[in-house]
Amino acid sequence: MTFLPQFPSEDRREHDDGAVVVIHPAAKRPAPPVSASAVAPDLSVTALLRRQLACQRELCRSLEAIADALPDNLDTQHTLHVARSIGATIRKAHHFEENTIFPLLSQHFEKRPELFGTLQRLHYEHWEDESFADELCEKLTDYVRRGESSDAEALGYMLRGFFEGLRRHLAFEEEHVVPLIAELDRSNER
Ligand SMILES: [Fe+2]
Repeated sequence: MTFLPQFPSEDRREHDDGAVVVIHPAAKRPAPPVSASAVAPDLSVTALLRRQLACQRELCRSLEAIADALPDNLDTQHTLHVARSIGATIRKAHHFEENTIFPLLSQHFEKRPELFGTLQRLHYEHWEDESFADELCEKLTDYVRRGESSDAEALGYMLRGFFEGLRRHLAFEEEHVVPLIAELDRSNER
């Protein structure tokens, strides 16, 4: 695999004399295949992936409810709770996908060249969403602290931009990633 940062395409190492040595992936020992049973002895990988997708959909529902409640009907304590959960929920799901799902797909479907571009795009969207999640947490927290003087319209726009983008990402993974992982699970059961 070659997408960053979990799968660096090359390893640049600078020596004391200023010389830079670039180690390409082909020169490295290949990683051992990851089996689904080793990752999840009790639950299938498909079930674990669906669980992560469901957690993110639940987050989207909570954020949509907050957006709908703006500007006057906000439950401030609940909003703070949701704000604090955004980054953790997103990062937990991304960690699972990037460290379990993507390597599994790369190793078992290496003859599908289109998959590389797909995983690169999903990885980039993860990176964008994590950055957006931190900003959204900060804006939500600020809004609750400052109250009515804040710009509810801008916050609503930001909330909808986040959860609508995340829903598109999740729908794509449900349609294109889940079936491949389910195929792997089935092949491991045989
Ligand atoms: Fe994802």
